[in-house]
Amino acid sequence: MNATNMTVLVVGATGSIGRLVVAEALRQGHAVRALVRDLGRARGLPQEAQAVVGDLTRAETLAPAVEGIDAVVFTHGSNGGGKSGAEQVDYGAVRNVLRALAGRPVRIALMTAIGVTNREGAYNRSTQIHDWKRRGERLVRASGLPYTIVRPGWFDYNEPDQRRMVLLQGDTRHAGDPSDGVIARQQIAEVLVHSLNSEAARAKTFELVAERGPAQKNLEPLFAALETDAADAIDAVRDTDNMPLMGEPAQVRADLEMLSAG
Ligand SMILES: NC(=O)c1ccc[n+]([C@@H]2O[C@H](COP(=O)([O-])OP(=O)(O)OC[C@H]3O[C@@H](n4cnc5c(N)ncnc54)[C@H](OP(=O)(O)O)[C@@H]3O)[C@@H](O)[C@H]2O)c1
Repeated sequence: MNATNMTVLVVGATGSIGRLVVAEALRQGHAVRALVRDLGRARGLPQEAQAVVGDLTRAETLAPAVEGIDAVVFTHGSNGGGKSGAEQVDYGAVRNVLRALAGRPVRIALMTAIGVTNREGAYNRSTQIHDWKRRGERLVRASGLPYTIVRPGWFDYNEPDQRRMVLLQGDTRHAGDPSDGVIARQQIAEVLVHSLNSEAARAKTFELVAERGPAQKNLEPLFAALETDAADAIDAVRDTDNMPLMGEPAQVRADLEMLSAG
């Protein structure tokens, strides 16, 4: 892999994963732009990161954040915002950043969640977070931009000796608790940032969990072993076909059309 130093926008930079992504991207030699709601929230971010103010729910505020970037890592979340938060933040952030990019050729790494295709669980029925995060995934695939989508297991529920990363596809674990899989926050950040420079990670969607054993030093064989998402498909390879496009809200279909045309 030829590592290239990029200017990386971190969306959700003040969050529990985003802060680690900022640090990891700097460690890997990238220039980092951290999207924050206001500069007060940027306190505690490394000085080398450039904080840029923007509201993920308002596309018109995001132009300065995307100016001149080479890559975006999405780690945002509505965190208890209910159905409207899921739509406006979990989904809206992806739509609005892609819209602000206006077709510029940037690399995307999007974090969603293990179980994102499970529509019937109590969590999704009450929050619709899975559905809205999955719609965000669909926008990224439809955009035509090079991407990697990471669906992590339960953050930091791993034992100290559970560091061996396992990448799964098909999103078949639907217990809705840590028995679905666990992963250290730091490893999520590492995988997201490494994917930006990996040809093998391109057009791949996977669940990320850890089993007992040491962390692998080289992620390339893990990425390379995965199946690529089908070109022109809006769902990931092996995903259950349980969210037909024709049943989707008109606005979501319009967003898909707008971004795939752009
Ligand atoms: N916990 C788990 O085990 C687990 C497992 C898999 C997936 N996930 C998913 O991971 C996601 C993120 O996790 P996390 O712990 O990093 O979340 P977090 O700590 O709550 O961070 C969320 C980030 O999004 C930002 N944000 C929210 N609304 C915004 C807006 N309107 N404009 C700009 N920024 C906004 C927040 O900014 P502020 O700092 O300004 O609020 C913060 O930086 C969640 O959505 C969750 O569903 C969680």
